[in-house]
Amino acid sequence: MLCFACQSTIGADDNWCAQCGAAVAKRVDPDSEQRFVTILRADVVDSTGLVADLDPEEAVSRLEPALAAMRGAVRQFGGIVSKELGDGLAAVFGAPIADDNHAPLACHAAIELVRRVAGLGDPGLQVRVGLHSGRVVAYMVASEYSKVYEIGGAAQHLAARLEAAAEPNQVYASEACQKLAEGNVQFEFLGRRQLKGFSEALPIYRVTGATDVSSWRVRRARSVARFVNRLNEIALLRRLAQDAGPNRQTALLIGDPGIGKSRLVHEFVDELTREGWLPFHAECSPNLQGAPFSTLKALMLSILEGTAADTDGLTSLTGIQRSAIDAVLDRPISDPEWGELEPHARGRAISEASCAILESLVVRRRTVILIEDLHWIDRASETVMAALASLQVPGLLVLLTSRPIGIPDWVARCNAEIAALRSLGEDAGREMLDDILGRSANMADLKSRVVLHTASVPLFIEEVCRSLKDRGVLRGHWGDLALARPVGELGIPSSIQGVIAARLDRISKEERSLLQIAAALGPIRQNLCCAM
Ligand SMILES: Nc1ncnc2c1ncn2[C@@H]1O[C@H](COP(=O)(O)OP(=O)(O)O)[C@@H](O)[C@H]1O
Ligand SMILES: [Mg+2]
Repeated sequence: MLCFACQSTIGADDNWCAQCGAAVAKRVDPDSEQRFVTILRADVVDSTGLVADLDPEEAVSRLEPALAAMRGAVRQFGGIVSKELGDGLAAVFGAPIADDNHAPLACHAAIELVRRVAGLGDPGLQVRVGLHSGRVVAYMVASEYSKVYEIGGAAQHLAARLEAAAEPNQVYASEACQKLAEGNVQFEFLGRRQLKGFSEALPIYRVTGATDVSSWRVRRARSVARFVNRLNEIALLRRLAQDAGPNRQTALLIGDPGIGKSRLVHEFVDELTREGWLPFHAECSPNLQGAPFSTLKALMLSILEGTAADTDGLTSLTGIQRSAIDAVLDRPISDPEWGELEPHARGRAISEASCAILESLVVRRRTVILIEDLHWIDRASETVMAALASLQVPGLLVLLTSRPIGIPDWVARCNAEIAALRSLGEDAGREMLDDILGRSANMADLKSRVVLHTASVPLFIEEVCRSLKDRGVLRGHWGDLALARPVGELGIPSSIQGVIAARLDRISKEERSLLQIAAALGPIRQNLCCAM
């Protein structure tokens, strides 16, 4: 064991470090947990050189702004700083509370971290960042003065090695992290490199940028199966669309990640669009939860793009209302009156302007507004969305989706019809598999196993098949795959481990232990449905 303060070796029975006298850290939570997370390591390049001629206090104050910027970036994207190292830090995404977006969130945080440190205006301060997604053991450690959330396991070393290998102001990522964040984050493949402590040369990626592409857009590009089942939900939405004629209707679809909320609402909105409805769409994003009005901005952009008009062309807004929309869209505002308004009055102007725009649209054509993943809505947008979703106007259909945890309170006040999405059911699961694997007879057994293994959750079906293809068990094209070798264990692809872990986090510790025992016991050992 190493001393938490001076890193010198301590005996198993020692209570104090013989070297520096620090009390030996003790684990307070004996049930350490295995977690699949993304680890971020960052440090200041050549920090020793930077502070070589400074006395200790000056050295700390030279590095502290960089550390503060690093912490800020990690927290902005929901990470936890697990260790501070004087000139850098180690952070974890996806623990202690599981988050299926841990890898893209960590990439966004890494980019923000480099940006924030560069923005300090100290050209001597450059950082480098390493990212790796992997399995770790997480536990709380109590030392004399503090409690620390400790992350152990080989995954830490790879993140640290990637950090050390990175060029100044660059972010390097492992393949595991790249695979999970791809689509949302852009990478450049740098080839395989030999890293200290690893016997094989490992593939290394450089993060080149991140867009705010939603998981739905990434999935839509990959999806191969025809839309199946969901007849009841479509019938409900149909009825609401009809009732929206005389007065606005609102629906809320609730469901766990990967259950098919996005697919369902997009299929339905596409239908309405073909029938002449005007569709507008915004997605709340975990990356932008802290960015005021980010959801409203996305909705306004969708409206401006969809109507090919500027706001003036849509409605006659007052001067203040026009400034309000400009503020939401991050445009420059020249109106001096806007500058003098109190935050509360600004908020009201933004809300009134948004409602006025929507009202002017609805009189022209039936309009459907889709707001996805409300559990991630930023607080500033909430009040406006509540006003929009409660407008008493004919010809407006508001569709909302959310995970079960984090549904905003105001939804209950806008008279929404609520539908909870469950998994697809065995027959529909098989239909998806017909589209993904093809219809060759020797696939029948595999299809049955996948249906059982995934409990017909559509995302799980897709990802299990994708991982079989990645592992070379299946070969050929989607829709016409052949078995290249015996299937063996189906496994749980890393892309859905976070989803399952997030579900498990919602149940009590006792129930979780029971599930663990059940999972260790029986024939359902490999069955993902035990995690549901
Ligand atoms: N009813 C369905 N038929 C076919 N594929 C589906 C269906 N529902 C979901 N999928 C597919 O499963 C994946 C996950 O669905 P998605 O709608 O993104 O889930 P959510 O929005 O609830 O997280 C997507 O690739 C989607 O195309
Ligand atoms: Mg979705």
